Amino acid sequence: MKFNKMKKIIVFDAYGTLFDVNAAARNYAQSNANSEFLPIWEKLSSLWREKQISYTWYYTSLGFKTNFWKVTEDALDYALAYYRLSGDSNLRYSLLKLYRKLDLFPEVPEVLERLTKSNFPLAILSNGTSDMLFSAVKSAKISEHITAILSAEDVGLFKPHEEIYSKVLKYFSCKSSDVIFVSSNGWDAAGGAAFGFSTLWVNRSELPEEKMFWRPTWHGSDLNTVLTLIRKK
Ligand code: LAC
Repeated sequence: MKFNKMKKIIVFDAYGTLFDVNAAARNYAQSNANSEFLPIWEKLSSLWREKQISYTWYYTSLGFKTNFWKVTEDALDYALAYYRLSGDSNLRYSLLKLYRKLDLFPEVPEVLERLTKSNFPLAILSNGTSDMLFSAVKSAKISEHITAILSAEDVGLFKPHEEIYSKVLKYFSCKSSDVIFVSSNGWDAAGGAAFGFSTLWVNRSELPEEKMFWRPTWHGSDLNTVLTLIRKK
């Protein structure tokens, strides 16, 4: 892929950064289909996410190859079992279906549009399978802004394994210093920094910074910070 060498390539993590991972449970809760789900949806959604990410780390550290859809299903099964909701097959089915068309965070469409207008190549680099990512991007109507959807699926391991981050260099034939990597996951921003990217950590939940060896280059509270960064360049 040829790109304008004067422009930084802006690479976004998907889940939690562009797409709101809590939207599946929130949208289901708001549909009032299960009264037991309404008071616990937030806690169940965060356990689902916590398990999903933990499983990616376990498998990657064991060198065991799998894919993010399987991990997402298994993590949901854990969370449903924890809240004694495993018997509701419609709930499981609906949450997984909603996960394939998650809401964007509110500022995302305009930020992507402005970056596209300024000719920045934009990519997604995610643990998600290609199918999950294409489905989410299509449903959110942002396909026109995304030059490349780079999925960890063919590697079978997950971030922060360097093989995943290196997909950006292979796709764009670029150096790590050509890239701004944007993630709301503190550990992922640290992983990107360890790989050699300049990283923006989007701290959507006002969390403390990860106490890891690698620190993000910049911090922001949402994706609008990307616009501030490129204005400085
Ligand atoms: C992803 C996870 C880390 O999209 O959110 O890769």
